[in-house]
Amino acid sequence: MLLSFLREKLRLTGTKYGCGGGGCGACTVMVSRYQPATKTIIHYSANACLLPLCQLHGAAVITVEGIGSTKTRIHPVQERIAKAHGSQCGFCTPGMVMSMYALLRNKPQPTMEDITQALAGNLCRCTGYRPIVDGCRTFCQETNCCQANGVGNCCLNGANNADEPEHPQLFDKDDFLPLDPTQELIFPPELILMAEMANPQTLTFCGERMTWVSPTSLEELVQLKTSNPKAPLVMGNTNIGPDMRFKGVQHPLIISPTRVTELFEVTQTPQGVCLGAGCSLSEVRSLLEKLVPQLPEEKTELFKALIQQLGNLGSQQIRNVASLGGNIMSAYPNSDLNPILAAGNSKVSVISRGRREVPLNQDFFVSFGKTILKPEEILVSVFIPFSRKGEFVRAFRQAPRKESSFATVTTGMRVFFSEGSRVVQDISIYYGGMGPTTVSAAKTCAAIVARPWDDETLSRAYDILLDELALPPSAPGGKVEFRRSLTLSFLFKFNLEVLQKLREMVGLIIFLQNVITDELPEKMQIKPLPREIQRSLQEFQHVSKGQSNQDPVGRPIMHRSAISQATGEAVYCDDIPKTDGELFLALVTSSRAHAKITGLDVSEALQLPGVVDVITSKDIPGKKVRSMFGYHEELLAESKVSCIGQMVCAVVADTRAHAKRGAAAVKISYEDLPDPVFTIEEAVEKSSFFEPLRMIERGNVTEAFKSVDQVYEGEMRMGGQEHFYMETQSMLVVPVGEETEFNVYVSTQWPTLTQDAVAETLDIPSNRVTCHVKRIGGAFGGKVTKTSILASITSVAAWKTNHAVRCVLERGEDMLITGGRHPILGKYKVGFMNDGRIVAADIQYFTNAGNTVDESVLVVEKILLHMDNTYNIPNLRGRAAACRTNLPSNTAFRGFGVPQSIMVVENMVNDVAVVLGRPPDQVREINMYKGLSVTHYKFEFSPENMLRCWEECKAKSDYSARRRAIDQFNQQSRWKKRGMSLIPIKYGIAFAESFLNQAAALVHIYKDGSVLVNHGGTEMGQGIHTKIQQVASRELHIPPSKIYISETSTNTVPNTCPSAASFGTDANGMAVKNACQTLYQRLEPLRQKDPKGSWESWVRAAFFEKISLSATGFHRGPDLYMDWDKMEGQPYAYYTFGACCCEVELDCLTGDYRTVKTDIVVDIGRSLNPSVDIGQIEGAFMQGLGLYTLEELKFSPSGLLYTRGPSQYKIPAVCDMPLQFNVYLLSDSHNPHAIYSSKGIGEPVLFLGSSVFFAIKDAVAAARSESGLVGPFSLDSPATPERACLACASRFTQKIPDSKPGSFKPRALNI
Ligand SMILES: Cc1cc2nc3c(=O)[nH]c(=O)nc-3n(C[C@H](O)[C@H](O)[C@H](O)COP(=O)(O)OP(=O)(O)OC[C@H]3O[C@@H](n4cnc5c(N)ncnc54)[C@H](O)[C@@H]3O)c2cc1C
Ligand code: FES
Ligand code: FES
Repeated sequence: MLLSFLREKLRLTGTKYGCGGGGCGACTVMVSRYQPATKTIIHYSANACLLPLCQLHGAAVITVEGIGSTKTRIHPVQERIAKAHGSQCGFCTPGMVMSMYALLRNKPQPTMEDITQALAGNLCRCTGYRPIVDGCRTFCQETNCCQANGVGNCCLNGANNADEPEHPQLFDKDDFLPLDPTQELIFPPELILMAEMANPQTLTFCGERMTWVSPTSLEELVQLKTSNPKAPLVMGNTNIGPDMRFKGVQHPLIISPTRVTELFEVTQTPQGVCLGAGCSLSEVRSLLEKLVPQLPEEKTELFKALIQQLGNLGSQQIRNVASLGGNIMSAYPNSDLNPILAAGNSKVSVISRGRREVPLNQDFFVSFGKTILKPEEILVSVFIPFSRKGEFVRAFRQAPRKESSFATVTTGMRVFFSEGSRVVQDISIYYGGMGPTTVSAAKTCAAIVARPWDDETLSRAYDILLDELALPPSAPGGKVEFRRSLTLSFLFKFNLEVLQKLREMVGLIIFLQNVITDELPEKMQIKPLPREIQRSLQEFQHVSKGQSNQDPVGRPIMHRSAISQATGEAVYCDDIPKTDGELFLALVTSSRAHAKITGLDVSEALQLPGVVDVITSKDIPGKKVRSMFGYHEELLAESKVSCIGQMVCAVVADTRAHAKRGAAAVKISYEDLPDPVFTIEEAVEKSSFFEPLRMIERGNVTEAFKSVDQVYEGEMRMGGQEHFYMETQSMLVVPVGEETEFNVYVSTQWPTLTQDAVAETLDIPSNRVTCHVKRIGGAFGGKVTKTSILASITSVAAWKTNHAVRCVLERGEDMLITGGRHPILGKYKVGFMNDGRIVAADIQYFTNAGNTVDESVLVVEKILLHMDNTYNIPNLRGRAAACRTNLPSNTAFRGFGVPQSIMVVENMVNDVAVVLGRPPDQVREINMYKGLSVTHYKFEFSPENMLRCWEECKAKSDYSARRRAIDQFNQQSRWKKRGMSLIPIKYGIAFAESFLNQAAALVHIYKDGSVLVNHGGTEMGQGIHTKIQQVASRELHIPPSKIYISETSTNTVPNTCPSAASFGTDANGMAVKNACQTLYQRLEPLRQKDPKGSWESWVRAAFFEKISLSATGFHRGPDLYMDWDKMEGQPYAYYTFGACCCEVELDCLTGDYRTVKTDIVVDIGRSLNPSVDIGQIEGAFMQGLGLYTLEELKFSPSGLLYTRGPSQYKIPAVCDMPLQFNVYLLSDSHNPHAIYSSKGIGEPVLFLGSSVFFAIKDAVAAARSESGLVGPFSLDSPATPERACLACASRFTQKIPDSKPGSFKPRALNI
């Protein structure tokens, strides 16, 4: 593939690997081709991971390195994304840059819609997208209105504005380089000549295991295919590519018909258009878009429906390469095009020995991935007919994520009425996602045809449809109830649209009223969810007037590596050039959840080309386990496995491909052990826990329940979360060559832990192991313990072979092996008074910890410490357990249990409000801490700023007025509901394990005055190096440009603590401050001697006067503790507070929702860097939004993780960004406990993403009340469209019969 060619052969490492399957956009490049027929050059973005190199003959490829660099000139796209703070860890940035660059090459002044479409297939796990979109927005030609006073309303409007202080901005547009299209790289003229050559030759490329042939004529193509019917025709490679990569499908011969012009021809006939099967989906879309305005409206119904589907199918990068013929022939069960093409009576023209036309109908799709065509037949073109007068065509789809996601159910529907009549002449309905093929609802259609389009006909049709498209409860794909209900909802939506059309067509108002007897038509209308992204506000305080201009503290300084990240020059672990003789390590993991290993046969693997060795537990010279809380975790399983994905051995080979092939050839035999434990319930039943279990109590809960007005019991289940850092686990272990010394280059949050682990594993002292961390492409807690284990295994391979060994996990392996956030089950009993006061609460938490303890006990402790959130509940009891199960072990994840803990509490408070019939925000307010307060672990604090955040959030969001507007909206809308919620957070900062709060630094001043700062924190996108640079700049009184931070390494600063718990800058900032102050004081005599001298002159003088220009700094950190026996302590240095208000609009028929507006107010003291801090707030919020509404891990009944890539596991994309996303930093806040009065911010806001969950729940409640359902109801997290839709309990979901639990084997476990 192009990606490995670029990275490994050309050493152009700016293009990143994120998933290998077209699902993340990290590998985006721009491809340009010359088209001889039109003599034009086309440019399009594409995923390099799916682009076969051979396919690129004659094309020009531009990577991020090609458009600009710091050595020459950076491109305006690179500059704007960087300066708008759109790059944090930077791993997604080159892909973002290239998607935007390709857009600008085609349209230098794009619209916002163009931008969001271009970026739809690029995932970012750090930023929350807002700053990226804002950076790109600067290319749009739009009004300069800031919209600060609401939509379309500028801050310049209104009388008072002259007196208002100007808000400081995060970046200044006026600084930007202009976009000058004349400066872009030109298409190589030699490629134009080549393309115009009269006699193109057949191309043949031969590889190790495959031959690639690219014919030039249809005749030759037919011959090739006839003699090699099994050889696939590769066009966009978006189906064949992932199959080869992920399913191990091998093709000895591949035929590439991309140079056969007949496959790209487009013709128009009186009946419709004929599109070449080779046309890309983007081309199809733009062709249809051009045709629509040229044709009478009635003729374009099918075209418009296709355009709509094409807008949502895959991403721009996929649509740019995926072909129309490829989509049809792939015969995906949930193809978006096949149902609508079939419903629209399309036909395909195929060729083999002869030509024939085949209708695209129910007979065309025969089974999963198979069509009626013979293997040797080639699809040449697709005929798409015009619609007729009286014919209406619509397509609908519902997917786990709005964009860049295969549909759960997708449909195409067509109905034809004769003129002036409401009697159906013809109808066809096709669904995708309802079985192994695209299916026709033929019986349903038969029941409608020749009948009037009215309530009676449709009512019968729903029942027949339900019967006709029945799915067994354990059907592949799961979500059976939801899928069945979607078929009905879509038909209902079609009904509404047809009624609207009929009304327009025949003016049958009376007819309409007869059809819909029970509802008002306006109330019934379903407009699409809003999607226009508006300008957002980021409010923060100016630095004080007296602050020197040179002092960068408190200013929105850009991330110090943002430009290198945007140009692709930033070096991540896997970008380090290969060393001589370097080997690659691939892991072999268990395929059983609970079994004895009875045999390990590596003989076949060892014989494969390039394989050097296989590493097993026996090869480990030192400790074979990592230990925590008295439990041992084996590095490589020796005799027993306890989860699918547990590492058993590792194959070392000369290349990645050889190592992977070797790993696939290792054979492990097992003897299954009885009764694996997967779910929390199973663990509880078998008392399968990791000790110690924890409990905390304040007051007397049992007694208090006796005196309350009401008691309510409920429970909530919350799913886990995959870190999905964009850079997968990566490491390179290099033996130095003497005295068992090793350099470990690794992407970890805790270099010291990796150093310790490698030393113990190799049985050598720590002083022989140096860990280097340049930067991390996202971590979120997932690169601490698991990385140390992976690095230990890799070090054994390096030690044994005496070669450098690299290990970079593929996305699927990473997701399978490394675990994530703990899923939980929370059960609560709450006692409260009728006035809303909660008097007693008893909460039990069970976490699914997986097969090893890892940090689960600490997670459980943090759950209990945060269970009060912002509420002063006088009698509060919490019990928590880490359940030991046969699933991959879970680990730290941003928030470390807090997002699970508080979720249960907020759900409980919500239930209390519903029971009392009071607004939840009132009940929250009644129960909040007020005045000097004491938590349930007897920690004294002032909630003043917590209450300020709450009040300010209410005011900024205009909560009361919007609440009224929402109620009104809901009264007027039957199928779409709005919901809103206001959620507070109080988050403890620092480690209760006191020793982890220390930090050290080493600062060198060189003779030329440049300064090198080393500290223990690692840069993973959170901007710690940028903030530290600001600290050093202030303390040394020199500009940040003189200060450099090269990496984090264990030989400069030893015995460091993890960059975690939102405490990295607090601790390391103080250590650096300390070192810098020492140095500054040492220079004092020289400054006095030469007050007019410069920094450089004092430094030079110091050297000649033999004054040390190097100093260490140390910060002891606060002495924190938690005594679990006494149930009291001081586990935190201080709290970070915040509040968030979100409003959503929910489509009750599909569960689809959109966050319309988000307002977040956060108290982070005096921000060290508002752009970095706001970036952390937005990124954490979006990760929380993903956790609570989108991201779903699914395990098979045997414990195998199904969701092992971005196609199955959806993290938020640009389409999930709130349409208005405002962040306000609380002003005039001070924090005496951290550097320069700032506060830690990495984790706290993640929980505020739950505000979207509660807004959805609020909207669902409004929908339920339409069905007469009131009172508390359960909605588990994440509130996916499936859960939200089913919870709405519409008349369609209620039609779906319940499957009796126990009568079938569910497809996925409810862990
Ligand atoms: C990340 C991602 C997201 C996606 N999202 C969606 C989505 O939301 N909705 C959706 O519908 N699809 C989606 N797809 C699927 C995508 O649309 C199809 O894979 C694509 O259209 C196939 O076209 P291709 O040119 O890439 O096919 P290839 O992979 O090149 O070929 C696919 C198959 O079609 C055969 N074939 C191709 N052309 C011909 C021909 N002319 N005659 C005979 N046989 C032929 C080949 O032999 C091969 O078996 C997604 C794919 C990816 C990777
Ligand atoms: S690596 Fe290519 S899309 Fe993810
Ligand atoms: S900055 Fe986008 S993934 Fe880190």
